Amino acid sequence: MSRLIVVSNRLPAPPATGPHLVGRETTVGGLAAAILGALQGRAGSLWVGWNGRTAASGRAAGTLLHHRREGVDLASFPLTSAELDGYYHGFCNQTLWPVLHCFQGRVRTRLRDEAAYDAVQGRFADLLMPMLRRDDLVWVHDYHLIPLGRELRRRGWRGRIGFFLHTPFPPLELWEVLPRPRGMLEALFEYDVVGFHVQGFLDNYVYCTRRLLGADWDGRRLAQAGRAQIASVYPVGIDPDAWRPHAGHGPAAGDGGEDAAARVGEASVANLKVLRGLQDRRMILGVDRLDYTKGIPQRLQAVERFFRRRPEWRRRAVYVQVASPSRVQIPEYAEQRRRIEATLGRVNGELSEPDWTPIRYLYRAYDRPLLARLYREADVGLVTPLRDGMNLVAKEYVAAQDPADPGVLILSHTAGAAQQLKDAVLVNAFVPADVAEGIAFALEMPLAERQRRHGRLLATVVDSTAEVWADRFVNDLERAVAASPYQVAGPEFVPPSTQI
Ligand code: ADP
Ligand code: F6P
Repeated sequence: MSRLIVVSNRLPAPPATGPHLVGRETTVGGLAAAILGALQGRAGSLWVGWNGRTAASGRAAGTLLHHRREGVDLASFPLTSAELDGYYHGFCNQTLWPVLHCFQGRVRTRLRDEAAYDAVQGRFADLLMPMLRRDDLVWVHDYHLIPLGRELRRRGWRGRIGFFLHTPFPPLELWEVLPRPRGMLEALFEYDVVGFHVQGFLDNYVYCTRRLLGADWDGRRLAQAGRAQIASVYPVGIDPDAWRPHAGHGPAAGDGGEDAAARVGEASVANLKVLRGLQDRRMILGVDRLDYTKGIPQRLQAVERFFRRRPEWRRRAVYVQVASPSRVQIPEYAEQRRRIEATLGRVNGELSEPDWTPIRYLYRAYDRPLLARLYREADVGLVTPLRDGMNLVAKEYVAAQDPADPGVLILSHTAGAAQQLKDAVLVNAFVPADVAEGIAFALEMPLAERQRRHGRLLATVVDSTAEVWADRFVNDLERAVAASPYQVAGPEFVPPSTQI
């Protein structure tokens, strides 16, 4: 069996030490959760990427740190502060991120950021090449590393390479906002397999590739100038067992052990007591990275509208927003935080009563055991991103419910997850009135209807796990022909250059 070498910008952080940690809290995110879930059952795999730290020196930046996390082997390295600035904060998160999520007005382009992005691809490739063995499968993740495949090819790698995009892929009009839209597509075309969460993103990619590169599409493969690539939909999932009620929520052996478990236990009890200041109030819960794509201000407006239009629910329900710090050095994120805090301050100021505060706000990242309990306690999971590749919080919320008395998931159409979780209460995140109605509908839903919807949602979550996602992608990657990077195996396929 081939080894699987997974490469992503973000890795789960090694144990926190030293002053150079960018922020342990910034390691939360769907990508790390999905890959960790997918690799746990796969022997002989290796996950390579940035460890969330900044290097004290150029030499330190080139030093690989090997460690193990929840049964997965990791090889990580720090970025220099110049790389962090130009590559991660700059091109990745101020150029690519808003383009991919269709936030055109937030796009910033700077030549030096582009240069830093290109240079980091080379550095990832240089670190990877000595680790690779001939039969390895290389699986590259997300927008941070689009040109990495091309850099590996330039260094002589002839083996199979796949790429999965964890964000949306935008329509052509948005893609063309990028500084080098054609060049970025050519870089994507270097991969043997390219994967997306949902059909709409694949459609956009195929359309862009046909228009900008003149590629041919047969419904499964793109072909152009002697190269061929499988392009398909692989919806990412979670490990539902890890979130189920009564799952053993202690950390895995070797990860810091019983102390950590005890701390988590104490924190859980303390925090749940605070939340149970709710008494027997109903809890509506939002859990997000603090990112403008998540639509938190719009959601707070919806919550405000709900309490204003449905005063009978005042004192009987509370909205709890857990927001984990993310990309805190980027001005748009700091501005988003100010906007959220100003909105909830105003709403609480205007609507609170001596014995009731409509919105609770927790600006922090939580460990899984506490998060699982929060999900389970919540009568409504309010997941309303303005745009999202998938959104794993929605799936985690479903998995964590008690099937006998489940909460209700409210989900925006603009989350990739809405393509799968059709039994959620589907709303338009851009229209607070619609979300407010969804909240009332969810809180008033009879038990039998909650059970019916939850049963179907859970079946989807259980059928479409992180493991299934990885298996499907890797199976397709295995079908690519190692010796000839631009040809795809399969009796029915003939590369265009040999058709003459
Ligand atoms: P994204 O990848 O954009 O961050 P997802 O919803 O797909 O969005 O994934 C978010 C992941 O981060 C989930 O696994 C969720 O459990 C985790 N997460 C989000 N907010 C928090 C938080 N406040 N504390 C801990 N984990 C969080
Ligand atoms: O899912 C999109 C994504 O950008 C992932 O690649 C990433 O792990 C997550 O969001 C969190 O973002 P960051 O790695 O910038 O903290």
